[in-house]
Amino acid sequence: MVLVGVVLVAGEGTRLRPLTYTLPKPLIPIMGKPLVIRAVEGLRDNGIHDFYVVIGHLGFLFKQALGDGSNLGVRVRYVEQRERLGIAHAIHRAIEEGANGELVVYLGDNYFGEGVGRFIREFEEGDYDVYIVLTKHRDPTRFGNAVINEGRVVRLIEKPREPPPNSYVVTGIYMFRDPDDVKRAFKTLKPSARGEYEITELIQWFIDNGRRVGYTITNSWWKDTGTPQDILDLVYLMLDAVEPRVEGEVRGVVNGRVIIERGAVVEGVVHGPAYVGPGSIISKDTVIEHYVDVESNVVISGGALSRSLVLNDARLELGRARVVDSIIGPRSTIRLERGRHTLIIGEGNLIMSMDWA
Ligand code: G1P
Repeated sequence: MVLVGVVLVAGEGTRLRPLTYTLPKPLIPIMGKPLVIRAVEGLRDNGIHDFYVVIGHLGFLFKQALGDGSNLGVRVRYVEQRERLGIAHAIHRAIEEGANGELVVYLGDNYFGEGVGRFIREFEEGDYDVYIVLTKHRDPTRFGNAVINEGRVVRLIEKPREPPPNSYVVTGIYMFRDPDDVKRAFKTLKPSARGEYEITELIQWFIDNGRRVGYTITNSWWKDTGTPQDILDLVYLMLDAVEPRVEGEVRGVVNGRVIIERGAVVEGVVHGPAYVGPGSIISKDTVIEHYVDVESNVVISGGALSRSLVLNDARLELGRARVVDSIIGPRSTIRLERGRHTLIIGEGNLIMSMDWA
């Protein structure tokens, strides 16, 4: 049977507003590339060429970014999920629209430090009806939890009040051998308290009906990017793994693990780990401290930045100010004079803070 990718990107990303009013979470670029493209590429490199992308909130932006998939060497079809009815419903919609094969379902805002290759191989080689990837997390009550007993998944619980004993967090990749089984399971579901058909309940059906539910534990890092802090954490993790590369023009100073893309100009100082995207200008009186990701066509003058993500076409005039732990939306302008600032800003805003004295 052929592997089919089902990539879910319909969510509104409410905890990342105002950014997600115009830019869905999986389209937020990190080091020049949105998460959803990284997801499709990762799955493609492991043998998946046929994709169903389930869209909802700002779905047209995914169509713009991924097109018919040919740029990425895959085929992409789109499925609309008009109402927010949950992950199990989104998978079922993809099957209704023709997704047929062994399904590899991937939540478009997830990122796995070890990649997805091992998971797909183990699913392919194992004799499982369902295969899930688990991990330890410091805050398990934010996620689905899987209870393991004698090496088997015995129970799945969505966002329990207390983490049950011998449990792990369920990450956002799920594999199903037989779409007909998914349809059978879905028929038995009812919306949960939050009004969604839960993936954990869908998989519970497989356990209750004697199907083989395989799992692995990933000990590498895993990120589900729900909040601004999650996005920033992902930026740090990805910057930590960069292969340094300087292709832009450096007239100032560049230190440590840094990517300076072709067409970027650094007149000031950039301390790694850092990324400066194409067309961006770091002026001579600017210091980029560690863990900063500056996307494309950004202009920064004055000031200092650390642990921040600056999205495309932003303008930062920082004077003697420091910006830390911030996300600056695309096409926003920030004018500061002094002080230390943390800003989470959406697209196209103007923020000014001046000393009038
Ligand atoms: C969803 C699932 C949950 C899973 C998580 C992984 O949660 O319902 O079981 O652990 O994704 O990212 P949600 O993001 O809808 O809160």
